[in-house]
Amino acid sequence: MQDDLSTLLVYYHFIMGRSRAYATLWAYSTLLLLLTGSLSLHASELIKHTYPETITVLKLLYASEVKAGFRYKVYAQTAKQEGHDNIAHMLTAMAASEDVHARSFKAILRALGVEAEQVDIDSIKRSRTKDNLRYATEVELGEIDRDYPAYLKRIKVEGHSEAIKQIAYAWQAEKQHRDLIKEIESGTGMFFSMLLSYFRSNPSHYYVNDVCGSTVTELPDHNCPICHNPLTTFREIPKP
Ligand SMILES: [Fe+2]
Ligand SMILES: [Fe+2]
Repeated sequence: MQDDLSTLLVYYHFIMGRSRAYATLWAYSTLLLLLTGSLSLHASELIKHTYPETITVLKLLYASEVKAGFRYKVYAQTAKQEGHDNIAHMLTAMAASEDVHARSFKAILRALGVEAEQVDIDSIKRSRTKDNLRYATEVELGEIDRDYPAYLKRIKVEGHSEAIKQIAYAWQAEKQHRDLIKEIESGTGMFFSMLLSYFRSNPSHYYVNDVCGSTVTELPDHNCPICHNPLTTFREIPKP
């Protein structure tokens, strides 16, 4: 800061040596810029101090959505390679939904003056479809009814309505994901073969809502069941 001021003073004396009127105009403009700059700086600091828990939770959720999206894309590729085309389709739709969640959390963070950090996706494990689905069911979707209420409770007192709304939307969409793969309970060989025959015999359509990540196999009659936006906010996810 001191260096910046010294530089500005050098400029000021340099311009003064040429034109007093121009130097005065320049000094006023610079002062104005400094003031508005520091004012906007204070505003962004104030926002960060008003929503510290909201920002922490959004950062955590953003990272977990990016990881979940990437994980489901990898799982979809594996499923396709193993010939489970309909399972690959379901996983692709779930990945698209996680991308919606990641995008909305990132947008709220940006509005709060915080840039989402780079997420480490290299550590994501790849396995066979049977194990991938078991992991998705037991580890990931098994945690949603514990984690989401805890996150919502943490940020409630700060009252950031958009963050509260989007996190509640994401929780509802995660429940849909769980329902989509609820047939996978034990991951035993016998059960997995039943699951495969179920998926093979059911032609799949998947639609994802671009606002809340709602993931459905049939379009609702009217609005989205989660965010209540019109059906135009849904897009059909093509088979990979
Ligand atoms: Fe999600
Ligand atoms: Fe999910």
